[in-house]
Amino acid sequence: MAVIYVLDIRQSQSAVRRNYPVIGRFRYLFEHLGEFFRQYFFAMDREELPFNRAQRSWVYRAAKGVTTNVAFGSTRSMLTPGEPHFLNSAFAILDEETSESPPLVFGPFCPTPYTTRSYFNISGMSYGALSKPAVTALSRGAAMAGCWLNTGEGGLSPHHLAADADIIFQIGTAKYGVRDNKGQLSDTRLRELAAMPQVRMFELKLSQGAKPGKGGILPGDKVTSEIAAIRGIPVGQASISPNRHPEISSADDLLDMLIHIRSITGKPVGFKAVLGQTEWIADLCERIHVRGIESAPDFITVDGADGGTGASPQPLMDFVGLPLRESLPYLVDELIRRDLRDRIKIIASGKQITPGHVALSLATGADVVTTARGFMFALGCIQALQCHKNTCPTGVTTHNLRLQKGLDPADKSVRVASYHRQMIHDVEMIAHACGVPHARELKRHHVRLVMHNGQSTSLAALHPEPVKILSAQETHSL
Ligand SMILES: Cc1cc2nc3c(=O)[nH]c(=O)nc-3n(C[C@H](O)[C@H](O)[C@H](O)COP(=O)(O)O)c2cc1C
Repeated sequence: MAVIYVLDIRQSQSAVRRNYPVIGRFRYLFEHLGEFFRQYFFAMDREELPFNRAQRSWVYRAAKGVTTNVAFGSTRSMLTPGEPHFLNSAFAILDEETSESPPLVFGPFCPTPYTTRSYFNISGMSYGALSKPAVTALSRGAAMAGCWLNTGEGGLSPHHLAADADIIFQIGTAKYGVRDNKGQLSDTRLRELAAMPQVRMFELKLSQGAKPGKGGILPGDKVTSEIAAIRGIPVGQASISPNRHPEISSADDLLDMLIHIRSITGKPVGFKAVLGQTEWIADLCERIHVRGIESAPDFITVDGADGGTGASPQPLMDFVGLPLRESLPYLVDELIRRDLRDRIKIIASGKQITPGHVALSLATGADVVTTARGFMFALGCIQALQCHKNTCPTGVTTHNLRLQKGLDPADKSVRVASYHRQMIHDVEMIAHACGVPHARELKRHHVRLVMHNGQSTSLAALHPEPVKILSAQETHSL
């Protein structure tokens, strides 16, 4: 103690330790421990970010297969601006009047289209950001649930193939897992991937919500020899992908790339982006009409600025890009306006971890909703915010074998499937309360959003059905 006392008063880097020798050090300890313990002792049910206890608890209960019923009354503030209210019908749907949501077909012009019934799926998280047992549990859980698993930008690992789940192969800006030895997109590798029946679609990643304008970041201590081999990079060195695909700098380049991947693979191809400036979407639509609707992306994944990540610079995470609430209606309406809504499927992601949020996105116009962090919670994530440090206490995002022991893929895969099942059940329940037989029938007029004066306004009035703009060709033929 005496030595530490002397060290503290003699040093000049920390004012707190100099003014309060020895005792000042507890500040760092408590600051560190606070990250883990405030959720148990201090934070109220609806207080924390990114996800509060009420949201996490719903996911944990759904994943464990225990009742998601709660007592006494909602802890949600119902008059806070932006909060949605679904409009229940006076005549709710009876169980015998319900129907299953119809299947979705991706890539109608592809030799191998993809059909799925699941409108709730696992968003891209790379093997690298996630641990081996986490990816294995997601693969097995997705197979049990009948939903898809997106590889994220780290390539396809054997753990993604642990079970027979549908795989969406994501092509990130570094083209990990699909590049040649010069780092360029490899057609040979694309063909190999397309030959695997499990790989159903390809997603070109332009950007993600938590770090628009920045490529993937995998810290060096998470780049194990296996991950390095899958990505084609050196062991132990941070894996940083370029800020964009070097060969894509316009809407035409983007279409060229999508068409190329589709022509090589024969499978549906789309792209993922977080919206910020939006004029390029109109430009893209114009270019599609000039080339013909076959040339269109088979889907667009719109990721909210409120999305998650394994690692991102805080200014990008905090300040850049539009949240899903704003970007989703914009994208839906722009595609309707440009007469491409039927051609291009819309996948929405960004904090969609509970039934109310998923139902809201479907009502706004999304075809599919995906979540990354919802499924992380199902795997046992406790929001310790350690994903970038290789010290995740639950084994979800660490390659430390001791910490991985806590995550048993056999048990957690069942939780993944159970979370998916309960999600679908509860989203459908909201739809039935609104008087429609399945969730795809939810529309904007079923939702009202609280405004600043405490009164609510219909989502349909806030975002009215847009008028179609005639394409250049149609205008010409008039
Ligand atoms: C640990 C982690 C790793 C991620 N890795 C990727 C990735 O490789 N590629 C990608 O497009 N998005 C990645 N994301 C973003 C998610 O796919 C998703 O778009 C975003 O987190 C929003 O969904 P959420 O709010 O449900 O988590 C990652 C997110 C997390 C939490």
